[in-house]
Amino acid sequence: MKFLTFLANQPNNVLTRALGEGKRPFIVAAVFSFFTNVLYLALPLYTFQVYGRVMISQNQATLWLLTLMTVFVFFVSSAIDDFRARILINYGVALDQRVSGRIFSGLFDAAVRGDPSARSQALRDLDTFRQTLTGVAAAAFFDLPWIPVFVVVLFLINPLVGMVALLGGFALLALALMQEKAIRPASREANDAALKSYSFTEAALRNGEVVRAMGMLPTLGAAWARHRAVTIERGAAAAEASNLYTDLIKATRMGVQVLVIAVGAYLILKGKIHQGMLFANMILVSRALQPIERIVGAWEPLNNMARAHGRIMNLLENAEPPVLATTLPRPTGKLAVEGVNFAPFGAQRLVLANINFRIEPGEMLGVIGPSGAGKSTLARLLMGIWRPVNGAVRLDGADVFTWDRADFGRYVGYLPQDTELFAGTVRANIARFRDGVADAEVVQAATLAGVHELILRMPKGYDTEVGEGGVVLSAGQRQRVGLARSMLGDPAFIVLDEPNASLDAEGEDALMNAMEAMKAKGATVVVISHKPGIFRSADKLLVLREGRIDLFGPKDQVMARLMKPTEVRAIEAGR
Ligand SMILES: Nc1ncnc2c1ncn2[C@@H]1O[C@H](COP(=O)(O)OP(=O)(O)O)[C@@H](O)[C@H]1O
Ligand SMILES: [Mg+2]
Repeated sequence: MKFLTFLANQPNNVLTRALGEGKRPFIVAAVFSFFTNVLYLALPLYTFQVYGRVMISQNQATLWLLTLMTVFVFFVSSAIDDFRARILINYGVALDQRVSGRIFSGLFDAAVRGDPSARSQALRDLDTFRQTLTGVAAAAFFDLPWIPVFVVVLFLINPLVGMVALLGGFALLALALMQEKAIRPASREANDAALKSYSFTEAALRNGEVVRAMGMLPTLGAAWARHRAVTIERGAAAAEASNLYTDLIKATRMGVQVLVIAVGAYLILKGKIHQGMLFANMILVSRALQPIERIVGAWEPLNNMARAHGRIMNLLENAEPPVLATTLPRPTGKLAVEGVNFAPFGAQRLVLANINFRIEPGEMLGVIGPSGAGKSTLARLLMGIWRPVNGAVRLDGADVFTWDRADFGRYVGYLPQDTELFAGTVRANIARFRDGVADAEVVQAATLAGVHELILRMPKGYDTEVGEGGVVLSAGQRQRVGLARSMLGDPAFIVLDEPNASLDAEGEDALMNAMEAMKAKGATVVVISHKPGIFRSADKLLVLREGRIDLFGPKDQVMARLMKPTEVRAIEAGR
């Protein structure tokens, strides 16, 4: 009964709150359920009355009337069920509207953090949860409490009949629980293997070129096939187990029905009950056992619902809290990194330790260091993409991580190390896909980045489609368009991560001019590179080594130290 656990101990998050806000529709639906069930209770009593009369009076008109009434009751009851379903469906729609946005942003947070549990599955999980909750789960929830009521009525008619219904109910319930127990491990294994084989496929497709060039397909294919085989094999095992029990349960239910007739006939012979009661008993017993049967067919969706719910709760629990809503003024570009330690998601080791430095508005900082020193990690922390484990990165005194992203984005520019563009035109990419950016602004950014001429030489100039990820352009061209994107709207603070990695001499010239122009406009510029040539106009340098600041200070002093023989540096370090 795993699906019931979700009712207990819920942490307070957007999903729990949304579920709670839906109490009213659920109460209305429960009232509808009440009426359907009361109708079902009234039906056998009514038929008992009329049935008895038909038998005694031999009146055919009464028989037809009885039939008509019975059919009518079924129609009314199905109309009520339909209303209930509508209420629940609308409840599901409202639930989705309240929660899906938050799940989407939670998913995005998780992906940026490098959380491997971040899969586009999360939104499918919400669909699964919503559909099952407002479908099978709700039906079970509303109908299960009525089982005892029907059993009590049967006991009132005759204890023996009640006993048969009760034992039959327990037998069915026991079989249902055994079925669930038999299916669960296999279906979970099948599910996990399926997820693995999907993500395997995704990775192979993403790195298609590498896979093809080095003939890795057979090996990858074998690993994929193993996951796939587990999915199929365990899935089949679950289905077999499920079928076995379904057939057993069906037979048991038929047996109970027959037993009820037999017991009824016996009691009539003994003169314990009226013969009209036989019919009533059958209706009552089948209605009492119906909810159990419904659940039997629904273990799979119910378990999937519980798993989906668990994943959503996990995602929401780890999601970043909403950012501060107060709009801050445009920063001047005063940057302070205060005691920052950082470890990537799931990693034990600190990738950056005890990072402390400050730069003033309009200064340019060069960051240098070997591969893997943590330069790109620092860039991400400066941009508020990742949250430090301790300490904070402050721009004009405000924590960059909690800054409203749309707001923050207007004042900063970022060029990541591996620049991918979005499918769309060059213009749209430079404009960051924002509405209401004037052509002049786009051209200005491109001119500043020294890429205006290059863009004009493209087939359709600014309107050239760059394709998925920007594949139409070369790596160097992508990087230069990315530079223009980072310079849109005169940012106060810019971080460039190895901006000259794919550039030729002309591109590098344009880059250095662009950085100087930004500096002249008063922007704070942080530029990361392997090649010291690019630090021509830097004011300060920071040398990063194994996640620690090795040297930091005015450019000339740091350069002088870097040039010193290693022995001298070793002595100084030990000082
Ligand atoms: N998600 C991660 N999990 C574990 N280690 C990571 C993760 N991301 C980066 N690292 C480690 O952090 C270190 C710094 O990476 P990075 O900042 O990209 O270096 P740089 O840009 O200086 O070459 C590397 O040693 C890398 O292995
Ligand atoms: Mg890097």
